[in-house]
Parts: sequence; C-alpha cells; structure tokens
Amino acid sequence: MGVETAINIAELREHARRRLPRMVFDYIDGGSDDEQTLARNTAAFRERELLFNVLAGVTDIDLSVEILGMKSPVPFILAPTAAQRLFHPRLGELAAARGAARFGAPYAVSTLATQPLDAIAGAHPGPRIFQVYVWKDRQLVADILDRVRAAGYGALALTVDAPVAGNRERDRRNGFTIPVSLNTKTVPQALSKPGYLLDLLLGGPAQPANFPLPHAGDVMTHINTQFDRSISWDYVCWLKDAWGGPLAIKGLSRPDDAVRAVEAGADAVWISNHGGRQLDTAPATLDTLPAIRDALKGRAQIILDGGITRGTDIVKALALGADAVAVGKAYLYGLAAGGEAGVARAVEILKNETERAMALVGRASVAELGKDVLAG
Ligand SMILES: Cc1cc2nc3c(=O)[nH]c(=O)nc-3n(C[C@H](O)[C@H](O)[C@H](O)COP(=O)(O)O)c2cc1C
Repeated sequence: MGVETAINIAELREHARRRLPRMVFDYIDGGSDDEQTLARNTAAFRERELLFNVLAGVTDIDLSVEILGMKSPVPFILAPTAAQRLFHPRLGELAAARGAARFGAPYAVSTLATQPLDAIAGAHPGPRIFQVYVWKDRQLVADILDRVRAAGYGALALTVDAPVAGNRERDRRNGFTIPVSLNTKTVPQALSKPGYLLDLLLGGPAQPANFPLPHAGDVMTHINTQFDRSISWDYVCWLKDAWGGPLAIKGLSRPDDAVRAVEAGADAVWISNHGGRQLDTAPATLDTLPAIRDALKGRAQIILDGGITRGTDIVKALALGADAVAVGKAYLYGLAAGGEAGVARAVEILKNETERAMALVGRASVAELGKDVLAG
C-alpha cells in the first residue's frame, strides 16, 4: 500500500518505521531522557475536549491565516527539521518543499538543511521561513542571512531552546550520528533496510549544505561548540537589525521570556519545546499557551508546535490563541515513507481533518475559533 492511501498520520508513521533503519526512525520519533515531555505534548491535546455548535450555518470553511506577514491557505507550518536527506536520501528538503508547495503550506528550512537554501526556494514558491541558531560566529550568520534574503525567504525564526543538544538516549543506544557513521551498531541496522541503504549510498552523506563544517565529524558536536551560551537577549536585537524582516523566536515556554522576545524585536513568539527533544519534564506546549497569550496581550503573533498529529489538535491550539501551529514529526513520517508524495499526503490529511473539525464545531474561519469551543 502506498502513502497516498494512508488514512492518518499514525499510518504514515508506520510506513516510515517499515522503510527506515531503526536509528533513523528513532532520531525522528524520539525525545530526550525519559521522553516525558514528548508524551506530554501529545497528551495535552488528547485531554482537552472540543464543544460543538450545531446548525451553525457553516458552508465553506476558510482555513487561511496571515503569519509573519505571509498569507497561507492553511493554519499550519512545516517546522524546520535538520538533515532531511537522512529521511529521504536522494532529495531530502527538495521533496519536502515540493510536497508542501502542492498545498501552498508554509515550509520552514533548518540551518542544518542538507540541500542549498536557494534550491529549496526554487522548489517552494512560498510562504517560506528560514531558521537560524544563536551562533558565536555572527559573520557566518550574517553571510547566511544575505543568501536567505537573496533567495526571497519571507521570515526568519531564531531557535533558542538548544544551547546544548538534548540527551537523546535512543540515538546513543543506536550509535546514531549526523552524518551516519558506519560501525558495528549502525551497519546491521542499515543492512536490514536495503531499499533505504541503496538510496543512502546513491545520495551520499547527509551533510549540512548551507555553511562550511570547519572539520569533519558529527554535526551535533559542531552545534554544541558553535552555540554561543554567553549571549543574551541582545542577540535578538542584533539579529532583528541584521535581518530587517519578520522574525519569530522559536523555543519559548514561559510568559516572561515571551515578553522579553517581543521587547527585543520579535514579531512572533513560537511556543515550542523542540518536540520534547531538549529539556525533558518541560511542560506540554499547549499547557503553556494560555499564560503566554495573556502576557503578550496581542503584541506579537503566536505559533505553537509539539505533539500535533490531528486536525482537532490544530483547532484546539488555534482556539486557545495560537495564530498558527507547526508540525515536525507529522510530515517527516510522510517524507521518509514516500518523499514528495508522502509529505503532500501528510499535509492533505491535516488540512482535511482541520476542515472537518471546523465544520463539526460549527466555525467557518480561524478568526471564529475562540476559547468557547473548548470545555473547562
Ligand atoms: C528530526 C527532527 C529534527 C529537528 N531539527 C530541528 C532544527 O534543525 N531546528 C529547529 O529549530 N527545530 C528542529 N526540530 C524541532 C521542530 O522544529 C519542532 O519544534 C518539533 O518537531 C515540533 O514537534 P512535533 O515533532 O511533535 O510536531 C526538529 C524536530 C525533529 C523531529
């Protein structure tokens, strides 16, 4: 059965599990330490109940939103995720971008992308976001920004929740690194998935394509050494100035930090715990949303990610005050399972489910979604 017939995101996940060596599947699927935050992100959506109005005169559903100055036909963004040629060795980000583009869904490109950022732009007319980190080498970031601007990206996201890489124990157990190194742990895993292995050998190592790695080796080690842990909110002011366009700060979990982000120049607060991959036991993103929304008092837009696998999840986050949401794993399962077609199927599933959920709660547009559709 192909990805086109997958009924939901959980089925795409099963397709991905069958296709990928265990180490690559676990890199997508796993979290840090005991994976409590990973589980909480999903549980928080499950625990909330949706209330529905009937006979609400809802004929056409309008899912469109404006986020970071860009119009989008759907209220969800494909979140930035590293090294997509690991998940789809031949095309990686190009396949993901094309799949998203079929529905005009916003696509966010990671600094750790394994395809050139201008080639990705060519595969996805927009809306597009580029994600950067807090790096010691500001000249390196400034050079990347020049290329991001030249390639016509509409907005920037600064990820702040990864001053060190999280403790991903599945990766350590599996001997997983980026790029994949061949050793006694990884070779048997790769050999057990010959289809993937062939693609990997043809595609070559999944290296970052948008900045030079100073020396050969593991990308996560490089990130750990590049991250400037001495810096503070003045970096946001510098970045806003250097970029000059719409800016989101990604990886916020507390109202005080959300307010600081806005004071430093952020146009959007991106509530995220990196999909439960960084600080374990941090709260579910959905649970932090009400206090952050209240603290911001409408001074910045809100994006939320973490644990979204259903249209009802999207409706809940929008009803609680997010202006848009983002999904990571949900589309990566599609990418791994079927490249462009798999990503397109993930987007289609989420779009259809969101439309259906809106019709069932009796709301015709995102603007009509408020707290009253949630119980309690
Ligand atoms: C495999 C993987 C790689 C990721 N790489 C990055 C990255 O390079 N930069 C970043 O800001 N976030 C990264 N993230 C976090 C996502 O942008 C997003 O916050 C998270 O996936 C949302 O949670 P969800 O996967 O439950 O939807 C990554 C997530 C995953 C699953």
